[in-house]
Amino acid sequence: MSITDGTDLIDPGAYAENGPPHETWTKLRAQSPIHRCESADYPPFWAVTKHEDICRISREPENFLSFPGITMQRKEDVIDREQGVGAMRTIIEMDPPQHSSFRKVASPFFKPGQMKHIDPIVEESAKQLLDDLAGTTGEGECDFAMKVAVAHPLRVLSTILGVPREQEPRILELTNQLFAPEDEEIGLAGRVTETHREARNAAVMQLGMELYQLFEPIIADRRSNPRDDLATLLANGVVDGEPMGPMETLGYFLITFTAGHDTTKNALAGGLHQLATHPHELEKLRRNPELSASAVEEIVRWTSPVNYMKRTAARDTVVSGQNIAEGDELILFYASGNRDETVFDAPFEFRVDRAPNPHIGFGHGEHFCLGAHLARRSQRALIDAIVQRVDHLELAGEPEWIKASFVVGLKHLPIRYRFK
Ligand code: HEM
Repeated sequence: MSITDGTDLIDPGAYAENGPPHETWTKLRAQSPIHRCESADYPPFWAVTKHEDICRISREPENFLSFPGITMQRKEDVIDREQGVGAMRTIIEMDPPQHSSFRKVASPFFKPGQMKHIDPIVEESAKQLLDDLAGTTGEGECDFAMKVAVAHPLRVLSTILGVPREQEPRILELTNQLFAPEDEEIGLAGRVTETHREARNAAVMQLGMELYQLFEPIIADRRSNPRDDLATLLANGVVDGEPMGPMETLGYFLITFTAGHDTTKNALAGGLHQLATHPHELEKLRRNPELSASAVEEIVRWTSPVNYMKRTAARDTVVSGQNIAEGDELILFYASGNRDETVFDAPFEFRVDRAPNPHIGFGHGEHFCLGAHLARRSQRALIDAIVQRVDHLELAGEPEWIKASFVVGLKHLPIRYRFK
């Protein structure tokens, strides 16, 4: 019997119940690293689970395409790629040579040298959140995922994208609906009673319209009043000598927000879960604050918030001895690559001082995360603030997983804390 038909690897309900399917991935890495998955609900795909194979495929964007789509949908839910937000192509779904022309628009903002502009923003956000947590008594309980992990990247991204504070909650709702559509609490499921294709497509179109209305005035403002921020760079973006069109510009705002928010939020919540349940690792960090850089890398490896990316074979090929036909879909499970026992020593141990740590939580090759430096700085600012100011940290209830399999993580993380 086959190890899996792929349902437990891709079905959001399975993630909500059990978290990421590490047991299945471990078996696949050992016995069937390029595994054919055929199930009733999802189109057939190859599950790619080993670090080496994921990296190899990621280094060949001409052979393994992003353009046909990067996420897996149920057969009945496949959204219309010809209309509305469905038709919008952002850099994450572009292939060479178009991809690098578009990536150049935003990349100057994300260079390591630019982080001096980011540091004050991430530090201020971390300080405010910790002040709020401390309150007047210096101790308490909260849902860290919903209260702190959500708020930190939201404030940081809103600042660099020019989103006014009063619109922060709405933009968060909209992106949650886009990224965890099946979650009853935060996704589209609460809005769409029928789950069939038309209803879902209509809801996605509606989301697109609202997001457009939200970003339109910001784009207009940065064209007439340029400033030193990412919003200005995107609003005035030029590709191959031509100004970007309205859909491309809006798409860039959206991809930056959506790619940057839930990923960072889920890394922070998952990271704090580990620190709260591994007091000796927290203590290591307290004694050696310079370890926070490697702690953040370990958090990204451990949590792997971007669980997977899909690629489509551009031609017949062979991967690790397995024949792949043109048009076949391959799912690169970063979360599995990040537990590959042939690459990581004791991969199921969370170690803030892990070195080396060649994780692929930010992807690899052509599409390597554009926001990786920002994501590192922003996580580091919050982790540093917690390590310096919080004396005691423990779970105050059971964590709960988001019902999503693409950008994955904890939805609720109840904690009890005491400040120094
Ligand atoms: C812990 C946080 C984050 C994680 C784990 C993460 C992960 C990833 C991964 C795995 C990819 C590769 C996609 C692919 O191969 O197709 C990616 C791409 C990308 N990320 Fe991130 N990301 C994070 C934070 C951010 C932030 C903060 C931003 C922006 C502010 C951002 C912007 C992007 C963009 C624009 C791309 C597309 C790059 C391209 O296609 O060339 N990410 N990210």
